[in-house]
Amino acid sequence: MDQVTTGIRRVLSAPIVYDTFQSILGGSSARRRICQEHIRARDGDTIVDVGCGTAELLNFLPKSVHYYGFDLSPDYIEAAKSRFDGRGDYHFRCADLNTLGPDEIPPCDLAIAFGVLHHIGDDTARTLIGSLRDRLTPGGRLVTIDNAFVEGQSFIARELIRRDRGQHVRRAEEYLELVPDGYREKKITIHHDLLRVPYTHLIMECVK
Ligand SMILES: C[S@@+](CC[C@H](N)C(=O)[O-])C[C@H]1O[C@@H](n2cnc3c(N)ncnc32)[C@H](O)[C@@H]1O
Repeated sequence: MDQVTTGIRRVLSAPIVYDTFQSILGGSSARRRICQEHIRARDGDTIVDVGCGTAELLNFLPKSVHYYGFDLSPDYIEAAKSRFDGRGDYHFRCADLNTLGPDEIPPCDLAIAFGVLHHIGDDTARTLIGSLRDRLTPGGRLVTIDNAFVEGQSFIARELIRRDRGQHVRRAEEYLELVPDGYREKKITIHHDLLRVPYTHLIMECVK
């Protein structure tokens, strides 16, 4: 099982509940900071966002980007379409990353997996990161954002992360091991202060 969507976690499957929950926790300011410090999208970039959810990220990207969002949830994709269709060169598709082929991913300057790797197993993650590498332009970047288990993190952060819907939360070195050859740089940054509650985010930036 890759993600738990039963019990209390089931309510997060509703797009409005997910977005509201994120907002209460301080998700908007976290996204703004991640976009400024790590994603660094430029005008006119072609961006692939795998596991895009409701495409909330679009609110923090330049309006001129060409955006392709993929997600497993038909409800999230419908919510993304109703929010953003007609507001730019934006495309949304319901797709399972376990079966998404490289030919289905457009060539891109920036690939983003925001809160996604901890929802998919090692084999799928490695294949996906390899497919994204093949579709990135030379010098293009992959940026991933996930929760993580790290030495010295607060007890509250660890307990919250243990209850995540994603069943593949990893340690820093385990995230790095998912990156196949062919990226000339890979860097990890860990933040403990992005949300209003104690939480640990791990950001990987990989340059082709
Ligand atoms: C924590 S949410 C993050 C959503 C969005 N990236 C954001 O930042 O708000 C994880 C997302 O990954 C999607 N997801 C999980 N497993 C997937 C899979 N196998 N294929 C495609 N999407 C998947 C979920 O539907 C969900 O939208």
